[in-house]
Amino acid sequence: MLEIKNVTVSFGGLKAVNDFSMNVKEGKIHSLIGPNGAGKTTLFNVITRIITPQQGDIIFKGESLNDLHPHDIIHKSISRTFQNLQLFQSMNVFQNIYSGIVYQYNKSFFSIFSGSRVSFERDATDKVLEVAEMFDIKNRLSSYPSQLPYGILKRVEMARAVVSDPVLLLLDEPAAGLNYLETEEIKDIIKMVNKKGKTVLLVEHDMNVVMNVSDVITVMNFGKKIAEGTPEEISNNEEVIKVYLGEEEHA
Ligand SMILES: Nc1ncnc2c1ncn2[C@@H]1O[C@H](COP(=O)(O)OP(=O)(O)OP(=O)(O)O)[C@@H](O)[C@H]1O
Ligand SMILES: [Mg+2]
Repeated sequence: MLEIKNVTVSFGGLKAVNDFSMNVKEGKIHSLIGPNGAGKTTLFNVITRIITPQQGDIIFKGESLNDLHPHDIIHKSISRTFQNLQLFQSMNVFQNIYSGIVYQYNKSFFSIFSGSRVSFERDATDKVLEVAEMFDIKNRLSSYPSQLPYGILKRVEMARAVVSDPVLLLLDEPAAGLNYLETEEIKDIIKMVNKKGKTVLLVEHDMNVVMNVSDVITVMNFGKKIAEGTPEEISNNEEVIKVYLGEEEHA
């Protein structure tokens, strides 16, 4: 479904992503892990066209994304969440989730003149309610982000990403900052979203989450792929163990 081919991104002298390739297969939960600064978020920014790589291709469903702009990505049915929450503080939960759909309306701009605006708004509202139900935040729709605990905000952000019905969902550290119970919930949510037909590319440091939800894991270090396989293969991979032990010693 998604082919990342020989992608290189340099920031000055630093190669944040270095001739990196990976394939994400349709229907899977595919995790991308690696130490801090490995290049994971940079790769997400390449896929969503926020960053243009110096080299390499991103092919989605057989089509190159290279010439697209960030705002085109949602029309390709790719959606994401951010490592640092990016919710609108001045909007309530309903409006934040709703903002995930508005793009599709802009795309069909001429429908304003065909009198279907009302039906669009009705459908969009129904969709927000459906997704809020899915993420168990229906009773929070009128709250503002500043009034809500972090665990709920992470779910609101994921709901906003899912409301546009993406086929590929990129999640950048959905469990970061969550307590034990919230982490257990997020595992179920990731699996539930996947069961509803969304392919998931997951960046996550919490190994408990990664090992539990992933079909495939790719390990990145200093911008390079160092291993790929099932959770079992990765947890027994010597190079991976070395990288993670090294990180712990360093800490
Ligand atoms: N806009 C930028 N300008 C310069 N350097 C950058 C920029 N964005 C990222 N980097 C550098 O590129 C490298 C990869 O960063 P990236 O954020 O992709 O890592 P990461 O794997 O997501 O790490 P983490 O797990 O800490 O989120 C790091 O050394 C980082 O400092
Ligand atoms: Mg990151």
